[in-house]
Amino acid sequence: VKIRLLGTAAGGGFPQWNCACPNCDGVRRGTIRARPRREFCAAVSGNDRDWFLINAPPDVRAQLESFAVLTAREAVRSTPVAGVLLTSADLDNVLGLLTLREGPALAVHATAGIRQALQTGLSLSVLLEEYAGASWHEPPTSLSPLRSRDGAASGLEYEAFFVDRHPPRYLGSRGAEACGDRVGYVISDSATKSRLVVLPGCSAFDAGLRDRIVGCDLLLLDGTFWSEDELQQQAPGARTAGEMGHLPVGGPGGSLSLIQSLKGRRTIYVHVNNTNPMLNEDSPEHAAVCAAGAEVGYDGLDIAL
Ligand code: MLT
Ligand code: MN
Ligand code: ZN
Repeated sequence: VKIRLLGTAAGGGFPQWNCACPNCDGVRRGTIRARPRREFCAAVSGNDRDWFLINAPPDVRAQLESFAVLTAREAVRSTPVAGVLLTSADLDNVLGLLTLREGPALAVHATAGIRQALQTGLSLSVLLEEYAGASWHEPPTSLSPLRSRDGAASGLEYEAFFVDRHPPRYLGSRGAEACGDRVGYVISDSATKSRLVVLPGCSAFDAGLRDRIVGCDLLLLDGTFWSEDELQQQAPGARTAGEMGHLPVGGPGGSLSLIQSLKGRRTIYVHVNNTNPMLNEDSPEHAAVCAAGAEVGYDGLDIAL
């Protein structure tokens, strides 16, 4: 499996256009050691020809252009993007589907709950039909072939697993009607059986989640916030990490301490919010991630499993 991290920030990116927190201000001025990041998106391929995107963030166009193998090659109108696997219906994960409207028709892999949120809140499938259209695929719950656009084997197998329910904000009170789940994906190489687990949004670790993680070779994990009140420290009145559905990285119950008890795999934090102190490569938080054997993901990172 080949993996390219195209974007590693949470919603808003880094720096965020309307933010002057110490990180955003520091990276703009060049006064801290930190890299700008686009919103979370990863490209995955099992055969070097068909590439699957995990999510479609608002600037997916620039993200595709940043990696030559993802640009059109075979025909005037063509793309190596064989499909998009959605982890939630949040705007930072889906707005790029509108950018990809021009075709060829999209293969969108989304659970019924995600699809319902997109339809109720954004009329997305109806809208896309007026452009190149989309084929919607319910991801399997046990490893099954991930097919390329023409139905051929792509060299990958995949399954989605339910993580939690966190309806996107745009649904407002309609979110109570059970739509808007968040999922993770297991993606496995059909030949080598190496395994990737993608988990960019997660509010807690239960036993089921631990079992998925224990057996994988690479974990792309929710790195949104370092601490529970991180956003409130910058913006009084903001929501807590828990209210936003994210388990913090730091602290006694944080994900960094939890993954240390599950040794073996490579763990890379993704979907990192611009306020997270671990973005500063000279910070004690960044050092703590490295000391624990984990990594803070950055745009352009290539991994082969
Ligand atoms: C989220 O997933 O909660 C958002 O990306 C966080 C944010 O918008 O900062
Ligand atoms: Mn997000
Ligand atoms: Zn900021």
